[in-house]
Amino acid sequence: MELTIDMLRVDSPLVDTVLGWHWREWSHEHDDADLDAWRRHIVERTNLDRVPFTLVAHLDGTPVGSLAVCDDDRDDRFLDRGPWLSGMFVIGPARNLGVGRALLRTAEEQARGLGVPELWLRTGEAGPFYDRCGWIYVARKEQVQDDAVMRRTL
Ligand SMILES: CC(C)(COP(=O)(O)OP(=O)(O)OC[C@H]1O[C@@H](n2cnc3c(N)ncnc32)[C@H](O)[C@@H]1OP(=O)(O)O)[C@@H](O)C(=O)NCCC(=O)NCCS
Repeated sequence: MELTIDMLRVDSPLVDTVLGWHWREWSHEHDDADLDAWRRHIVERTNLDRVPFTLVAHLDGTPVGSLAVCDDDRDDRFLDRGPWLSGMFVIGPARNLGVGRALLRTAEEQARGLGVPELWLRTGEAGPFYDRCGWIYVARKEQVQDDAVMRRTL
């Protein structure tokens, strides 16, 4: 299978593909989730030459995952750090094929090329995935409701 990763463009129909993924995966965690606001949020993350930007992965031309680098999904304990990863998602049938790792690597390369020295992220459940991909824990999850915080020097 051929894996390709592209920058999400503001006028692309993939904006709504990414929105659908995010909405189905995470809206139930937010009592005040608003589809239009979530769409605006994705549109804001479509720069091609600076943060915030979004990557979309395709397998044989089918969109299968996304990842954003942004400044608006911070952990309260590290507000002065960043930029932050957000919206890491791979569709179920495409998991465990290396798509997530490739999205991470591309986000890291892209950010490094823009002069970003390090990236940060917070995660409820996916810490072991990022750990496997070379990220370092800054704060580990200690209670069920906690997020772990991780970072990677570029
Ligand atoms: C987490 C997620 C992005 C991983 O994507 P993926 O394409 O399946 O990951 P990859 O195939 O690139 O896996 C890379 C490595 O991480 C490991 N890995 C993948 N998911 C893992 C998990 N949940 N826990 C531990 N390790 C994991 C893989 O085994 C692989 O290891 P290896 O290459 O050393 O054998 C995907 O499962 C997903 O979208 N989950 C739902 C949304 C989510 O939780 N997003 C993260 C929000 S912070």
